[in-house]
Amino acid sequence: MATSISLTRYLVEQQRAGGLIPAPLRLLLEVVARACKSISHAVSKGALGDVLGTAGSENVQGEVQKKLDIIANGVLIEANEWGGHLAAMASEEMDGIYLVPNRYPQGEYLLLFDPLDGSSNIDVNVSIGTIFSVLRKPDGERRVEETDFLQPGTRQVAAGYCIYGPQTTLVLTVGAGVALFTLDREQGSFVLTQENLRIPEETREFAINMSNMRHWAAPVKRYIDECLQGRSGPRGKDFNMRWVASMVADMHRILSRGGVFLYPWDRREPHKPGKLRLLYEANPMGWLVEQAGGAASNGRQRILEIQPTHLHERVSVILGSKNEVERVALYHGTR
Ligand code: AHG
Ligand code: MN
Ligand code: MN
Repeated sequence: MATSISLTRYLVEQQRAGGLIPAPLRLLLEVVARACKSISHAVSKGALGDVLGTAGSENVQGEVQKKLDIIANGVLIEANEWGGHLAAMASEEMDGIYLVPNRYPQGEYLLLFDPLDGSSNIDVNVSIGTIFSVLRKPDGERRVEETDFLQPGTRQVAAGYCIYGPQTTLVLTVGAGVALFTLDREQGSFVLTQENLRIPEETREFAINMSNMRHWAAPVKRYIDECLQGRSGPRGKDFNMRWVASMVADMHRILSRGGVFLYPWDRREPHKPGKLRLLYEANPMGWLVEQAGGAASNGRQRILEIQPTHLHERVSVILGSKNEVERVALYHGTR
């Protein structure tokens, strides 16, 4: 039987071979993985663990927080603050940045996360996840400030997500392709189950919240209209639609078998560029997608090249199979 490769071993070997993972980054990724194991455990308890329902508060974006949003946020902070690998963290569930307390050593990295993605699916037992992105803190001795987090996605040094579904799966990139690890609950460790994940270029599947169709801009409407016309339309083939409403779950399907995910700007709130957040949702997913041979665009620009202007900045996203993303960009007149 082939030896199974744990996340620890994978990271050590990456460190040796490519020098892509300095020791503190390896520690960081192990700690994030450990936190995800703990979140997975809490998620799986459901009503038995009193983790369902709302927490009775709102986050900075005006969204009602679920108990699990808060639990997952706390787990990630507690796991990461003491190890000496981080300088600060930022989260969807915290207004400002979280500085590592003075009683702990300060590290070189910044960690950003959406602790629990797909909150509307928690109480109905549908797949949810955690998304994370790692940046390097700018050089210098001064305390980290919010502006230090405003780096384009091209500067990420690691990114990934953990999906809590029928299996708990961690998907990771450090810039050398995408690797997938499945949680072995008996061993308590993540085991490498797929390396060099590639998104198929050709697809017949799209993911978008169709109920917003009447609010979309013309290029997105045109793209979806053409998909819906199927074999007799300009695309000459029938398309299938899938919408889980957890970005992690929709993207996990797309990374596994191809497809395109869109959460576009819409007319209801024209001042907002989109619904999803650039720094801890679009950038990590965008980098994973690119590392798997796909593309990530806001219709006008490569997502990873956007210069962020604030921590909770939103962005329109088109992610997935390269040909489809390029087609939508073309319809925006940018290719
Ligand atoms: P979050 O739960 O972190 O706020 O993110 C929810 C996001 C994303 O996961 C999903 O794709 C989208 O919101 C679902 O939006 P709809 O409510 O339009 O389905
Ligand atoms: Mn989210
Ligand atoms: Mn969330």
